Amino acid sequence: MNKTKQHNPPSRPLQKMFMAVPPSYDRLNRLLTLRIDEYWRGRAAKAILRERPGKVLDLCTGTGDLALRLREKASEKTRIYALDYSEPMLAVARDKARKRKLHAIDFRQGDAAAMPFDDSFFDAVGIAFAFRNLTYKNPDRDVFLQEILRVL
Ligand SMILES: C[S@@+](CC[C@H](N)C(=O)[O-])C[C@H]1O[C@@H](n2cnc3c(N)ncnc32)[C@H](O)[C@@H]1O
Repeated sequence: MNKTKQHNPPSRPLQKMFMAVPPSYDRLNRLLTLRIDEYWRGRAAKAILRERPGKVLDLCTGTGDLALRLREKASEKTRIYALDYSEPMLAVARDKARKRKLHAIDFRQGDAAAMPFDDSFFDAVGIAFAFRNLTYKNPDRDVFLQEILRVL
């Protein structure tokens, strides 16, 4: 059964903050983590691609770093999707993809609780530095986890 969700995100407390993301988001990340963030995204991309998935999602992609990494490492046959509810973050992600000529990434705006994808659409779902947003003391935690299971 096709249970693709309506693209109609409910309001979320953190969404405002991520809408007002500063252009320096990437620089700050590298600085605050001493570039360890990049190391972990590399490890994550490797793990996600290990079984040569056909379709992969970077959930809460933000400025797209995991999706870009996946695109660089994956075979051309692997389709890469990236979802975030912040259009300003996605704008930065799309710009980076364009500049790096990594065109085959399908960036979508949407809420992790109601993703615009069919049941069992993905072979793998990755998430970088956002799992805590969805799960830690979050009353909608079960909704997010169910939704990830649904699209897998
Ligand atoms: C800390 S950033 C991490 C961004 C990116 N994955 C990275 O590795 O830098 C968290 C991201 O999760 C997104 N996000 C948080 N909750 C979300 C939700 N319910 N649906 C979609 N995106 C969400 C935010 O807009 C933000 O871009």
